[in-house]
Amino acid sequence: MQVVTTLAELRAARAALPEPVGFVPTMGYLHAGHLALVRCARRENAAVAVSIFVNPTQFGPGEDLERYPRDLARDLRLLQAEGVDLVWAPTPEVMYPEGYQTWVEVADLTRVLEGAHRPGHFRGVTTVVSKLFAGMQPRRAYFGQKDAQQARVIIQMTRDLNLPIEIVVCPTVREPDGLALSSRNTYLTPEQRQAATVLYRALQAARQEYEAGRREAENLRQTMRAVLAAEPLARPQYVSCADPDTLQELQGPVEKALLSMAVFVGQTRLIDNLLLGYPDGVYPRYVPEGLG
Ligand code: PAJ
Repeated sequence: MQVVTTLAELRAARAALPEPVGFVPTMGYLHAGHLALVRCARRENAAVAVSIFVNPTQFGPGEDLERYPRDLARDLRLLQAEGVDLVWAPTPEVMYPEGYQTWVEVADLTRVLEGAHRPGHFRGVTTVVSKLFAGMQPRRAYFGQKDAQQARVIIQMTRDLNLPIEIVVCPTVREPDGLALSSRNTYLTPEQRQAATVLYRALQAARQEYEAGRREAENLRQTMRAVLAAEPLARPQYVSCADPDTLQELQGPVEKALLSMAVFVGQTRLIDNLLLGYPDGVYPRYVPEGLG
């Protein structure tokens, strides 16, 4: 496994990889959710590349950039054990040198949900992912359903910019009690960790309503709100039942829907979602025209 930092090192190492290359962008502090993406990439590509970069431009003022957990040595051990071929761990100076002034922005999809509560977040994500794609030049890139809006926004960006990259979305990996794995779970006290299961319980309650045929969007939102309200340590920021394609809130009976929420447990902001009406519960793979 080669580990590189600079663009010069990256270009040399990238050129030596067999094709096709599958790429997994991450912010490190890896857990089984990240490793599931690596395995997914391993299955369908000749080489697997991973980036580790805590991207400062996707954190808002007052967010957790400084205290975001980091352990590069541990991450490299985990990736080595997965048979990863190349790891790119750039410094902030490599990605955003003095005088940096170019941004990539997806419009409508980033105004709602996470974007509405984290202004500038997706501009940081799409900018850094564009730069990671440009450096790595993968044939396929792998994202988690855990960050559903991010996956939807990356598909839009890839399509709008005509990037010749397939976007694959992999299922959310959960703890046995349903809590979605997240690097931010390390912030939770034992008591908060217990309370954090409420996100998945709320989503499951809404799924049951949907499966029982009570499919009004407002009923699904209300079901989630009621479960969240019963947990004193949980403070919901938003609860949504949206069109998976446009991310606009739905009204009336739903066929396909993205149920999603952001909930504070103590100072920790957790997100989770469920995609209803899709066979695998994930966004379908995006294959650019002529790349099949
Ligand atoms: P990060 O939070 O490190 O996540 C990297 C990838 O792992 C994302 O595609 C995310 O959706 C996926 N992931 C996280 N938790 C998961 C889980 N429990 N199950 C399945 N997949 C999971 O997302 C980012 O980093 C950044 O925004 C990034 C895309 C790297 C740009 O900076």
